[in-house]
Amino acid sequence: MTTVNLAWQTRLAALPSLPIAHLPTPLEALPRLRMALGGDAGGVPHLWVKRDDAIGLAVGGNKVRKLAYLLADAQARGARKVVSFGGLQSNFLRALASGCARLGMEAHCLYFERRPARLTGNLLLCQQLGARLHFVPLGGDTGPRDLHRTCQLVRLASPFLPGIGRRGVAFIPVGGHSALGCAGYVPAAREILEQAAQTGFQPDAVVTAAGTGGTLAGLLAGFRLLGSQVQLIGIDVGKLWRDFEQDIAAMAGDVTTLLGAPQPFAPTDVTLFPGYGPGYARPYEPALAAIALAARAEGLLLDPVYSGKAMAGLIDLIRTGQFTADQHVVFLHTGGWPSLFATLGPL
Ligand SMILES: Cc1ncc(COP(=O)(O)O)c(C=O)c1O
Repeated sequence: MTTVNLAWQTRLAALPSLPIAHLPTPLEALPRLRMALGGDAGGVPHLWVKRDDAIGLAVGGNKVRKLAYLLADAQARGARKVVSFGGLQSNFLRALASGCARLGMEAHCLYFERRPARLTGNLLLCQQLGARLHFVPLGGDTGPRDLHRTCQLVRLASPFLPGIGRRGVAFIPVGGHSALGCAGYVPAAREILEQAAQTGFQPDAVVTAAGTGGTLAGLLAGFRLLGSQVQLIGIDVGKLWRDFEQDIAAMAGDVTTLLGAPQPFAPTDVTLFPGYGPGYARPYEPALAAIALAARAEGLLLDPVYSGKAMAGLIDLIRTGQFTADQHVVFLHTGGWPSLFATLGPL
């Protein structure tokens, strides 16, 4: 690993961040999953899981790394209330709710859907964590699809919602999708490389789910700044954002600029398996099969919307011969299992 420039590390270390994550998260081997997929004979690479599902702050997940910076920033600007939005089973809003509870701030969560008769999964956890839930039915699953315009809309509309107003309010974009939030995945890139080196291997690829693409952008920036050649592969869970690769490349560039070491990224630098499954949060049989396989082979809980689809994508890549048996592939587990309690019956 060659380091491009060290000044960015100082800049990163100087960013205000809250100690809400248990770091480093574990990097564990998945030997039984590898065997279940065919092992050496099947040309299956050595499989590893980076356990960001076990990162702490209630039930963990990738958003905790972003919130460590975003909530520190909100606090520094004197905010007492934090507003954001997402789907009914948003893991981000649940992580935001736990972070705000921990810091004595008010979380206001907006959903572009009707209030369900029964709160389940992440939505139930948000309520238990004391978040204020605002339901604004604007077309549900077929609602606004442009990330930046939706953020603007929420910014404009939220002061009029009960209990929000204009004073002491911080707005955090959906999924923590800002350069500051995505910078949370730069140290994760370093963790992966360091833990792999300590364990005695060099990762050939890292595979993870892409929702807003922020996790991918942060990792892309991190691996570039560290001079790593690891192949980063995102599995698009089907949110249908426009110009997704371009957006992720631009965000990776913004992250490096924030860290004082601007790097150019082109859409072709982003490896994305597009629109995995029939659409965002739609039941997808291979994802359900991947969830059952990971649960039974390794005691690992994935979710049907993000990490289950990412695992199904990884299995597809393995089955189509994209890797060799001597390679090492790290699956970044981004969490999300509370939605199992809302979306699945018995596997
Ligand atoms: C469990 C889980 N995994 C992955 C993602 C995708 O992360 P990102 O939005 O950074 O692409 C999300 C949220 O969108 C998530 O909740």
